[in-house]
Amino acid sequence: MATVLTTDLPGLTCLARGKVRDVYDLGDRLLIIATDRISAFDVVLPTAIPDKGRILTKLSLFWFRRLGDIVANHLIAGATVELPPELAERAMVVRKLRILPIECVARGYLAGGGWKDYQRTGKVSGIALAPGLREAERLAEPIFTPSTKAERGRHDEPISFAQTIAALGESTATRVRDLTLALYRAAAAHAATKGIIVADTKFEFGVADGEIILADEVLTPDSSRFWPLDGYRPGASPPSFDKQYVRDWLERDSGWNKTGPAPDLPGAVVERTRERYVRAYERLTGETFA
Ligand SMILES: Nc1ncnc2c1ncn2[C@@H]1O[C@H](COP(=O)(O)OP(=O)(O)OP(=O)(O)O)[C@@H](O)[C@H]1O
Ligand SMILES: [Mg+2]
Repeated sequence: MATVLTTDLPGLTCLARGKVRDVYDLGDRLLIIATDRISAFDVVLPTAIPDKGRILTKLSLFWFRRLGDIVANHLIAGATVELPPELAERAMVVRKLRILPIECVARGYLAGGGWKDYQRTGKVSGIALAPGLREAERLAEPIFTPSTKAERGRHDEPISFAQTIAALGESTATRVRDLTLALYRAAAAHAATKGIIVADTKFEFGVADGEIILADEVLTPDSSRFWPLDGYRPGASPPSFDKQYVRDWLERDSGWNKTGPAPDLPGAVVERTRERYVRAYERLTGETFA
């Protein structure tokens, strides 16, 4: 299988190249193609992770099927487009939605930005948590910690639920909060049976004809923190299935200051990162990644 860093489909208009996905216009539909690009700290790295886009797409499809009872999603059943073979397993044909300008994050554990905010303020997105929690500690209840969807190159900012209401209106804000937590709970329960903790995850919702629809990718290593349940111990950052490995290499070993062009990832980091994506896919779906 070819590694795909970018796509260019003759005859189709590319509406956007995101950090990972290239989005093409199909009229009232979109063709979303997941490449092998990887980003960290909101910067796209120059190095591709072979098969990553296939894994993200297949894992999202798995979750869309599994979570379909909770909320409608943007997939258009049966819709296909003819594509070169190296792109086939990376593509989704979806409804074109108006994406809500909020990243809908659910956290069941205290990690990443949530842990940083808690250490500073005792709160995450304005939600006061019990004192004395340790890094990676499980929360009594999963919490909804939305953030703004920042412009390209900017970091997403955590916001409170009150700010979410100001942005979306009360009924939409309440609905996406409730959906985010319901999706998180269902996914975390499934993942636990496969030996994986979903520490946190991010959803994007869109609107069409007044209906709220789950969009983008779901519950992938790019949008989530997955930890092995085996050996889980609060008090430190657990080893993860996701790109925490890349982040750690960038922060600890690369000497990069997180602005400007990122360095090439060494081959060993690429290979171990690919292995992590494959392992997350195989564990969560119970299928072998071919
Ligand atoms: N059904 C949909 N309708 C419209 N836009 C969508 C839909 N599903 C996903 N998108 C958008 O397609 C893009 C996917 O690309 P990618 O995930 O690489 O972007 P990104 O770098 O995360 O960008 P962004 O900062 O805009 O989220 C995102 O901007 C996402 O919001
Ligand atoms: Mg994205």
